[in-house]
Amino acid sequence: MIGTAVEGLDVSITGLGCKVPDRVVTNEELSQYVDTTDEWILERTGIRERRIAAPDEALSDLALPACRDALAQAGVEGRDIDLLIVATVTPDMAFPSTAAILADALGASEAAAYDLSAGCTGFMYALAQGYGMLAGGLAKRALVVGGDVLSRILDWEDRSTLVLFGDGAGAVVLEAVPERGFIGFELGADGGGGANLWLPGSGSRLFDEPDKYVKMNGREVFRFATRILVQSAEQLLARCGVSIDEVDLYVPHQANTRIIDHATRKLGVPSERVVINVDRYGNTSSGSIPLALADAAADGRLRPGELVLMTGMGAGLTWGSALMRWSKEGRGRNGRGHRRRGPRGAPDLRARQRRVGARPRAALLPRRRRRPRRHRRPAAGPRGDVAGGARGGARPRDRA
Ligand SMILES: CC(C)(COP(=O)(O)OP(=O)(O)OC[C@H]1O[C@@H](n2cnc3c(N)ncnc32)[C@H](O)[C@@H]1OP(=O)(O)O)[C@@H](O)C(=O)NCCC(=O)NCCS
Repeated sequence: MIGTAVEGLDVSITGLGCKVPDRVVTNEELSQYVDTTDEWILERTGIRERRIAAPDEALSDLALPACRDALAQAGVEGRDIDLLIVATVTPDMAFPSTAAILADALGASEAAAYDLSAGCTGFMYALAQGYGMLAGGLAKRALVVGGDVLSRILDWEDRSTLVLFGDGAGAVVLEAVPERGFIGFELGADGGGGANLWLPGSGSRLFDEPDKYVKMNGREVFRFATRILVQSAEQLLARCGVSIDEVDLYVPHQANTRIIDHATRKLGVPSERVVINVDRYGNTSSGSIPLALADAAADGRLRPGELVLMTGMGAGLTWGSALMRWSKEGRGRNGRGHRRRGPRGAPDLRARQRRVGARPRAALLPRRRRRPRRHRRPAAGPRGDVAGGARGGARPRDRA
């Protein structure tokens, strides 16, 4: 699917927020659970550390503060939202949707709310849907969330997947704006490659060998990623009549630096225009692109009027690109003049979830699954090293 945003309203992102768990897990720590090394992970992926959710932390616990920050930046409240989409493969539970849980917690009682599954590309699909519903006049203001707690579905004894991923969530508010925001989208899927990155046994299909953990053919996914990041971006730019030289900021899916470097070289994007934060968060799946946007905003690299190219790819196999001009600052950017409201009504489903989740489950407690093979190191306590970016907390937050 490819198209330019020439019909309907001009729509853009007017608020951005994100949240990562407190717990930092370094490569060194992972080398206590599986046969790997900091050097191997760094050389093959560029990842130094990732954030891992606490056992009682579900997706909505990360997404809620991200949503609140996005709403504050946009200067709107939950009740102003009439569409809430959560892109994820790790919702709090199969149903109710995490979007419905968030809508309740935010007081977005008028919102249509649903989850969307498109692997690590989910946020790009959700952005396109949000844009389409606003541009078509069906919704007025959307909250689009991308986030995952992939640590829940990773096999903590499989080094080929464990080292790659992390947890995190981001949220954006989409609204009509006076000048063109989104310019075009390109989205696609190749189900034929689905078994290269999958979770067999997680749905209604019976498998001889069902599994509750992610399975991946790393080399095939690498080949797919390097091809599709370039192809999708080039097709979209051509369709929009924009040259890569005009792109101010390139925000690729944060899978790993080898994939990003390859795409950047092929596309011909100068390295100073590329956003990379995979070294600190690993691959956060649907959280990857909003977290990268937030980092760029916090560093002053994402300025109003700039042309931004984003491309995601992931399970499905899926991919998606968006081209947009970053909007003027939202009415409530940095929360100025915004009055925060607490959760309304009785959104205690999240609290009940947490009580249920409080029962220790081996898969949720990676540090207890295996005894360290070398020597036990001190537990990695929460670190506050990425809190509050220069621009009013646009950088991934450590705390709600
Ligand atoms: C996963 C990936 C980093 C592996 O790198 P690679 O260079 O392809 O490595 P290979 O799979 O060829 O494995 C090379 C060796 O390293 C080993 N290895 C794999 N994971 C390892 C780890 N974490 N630590 C140490 N060794 C590891 C393999 O067992 C293999 O050993 P062998 O040669 O004795 O069989 C790479 O394929 C990749 O980035 N794929 C894309 C994955 C991705 O981004 N997925 C998410 C998409 S949304």
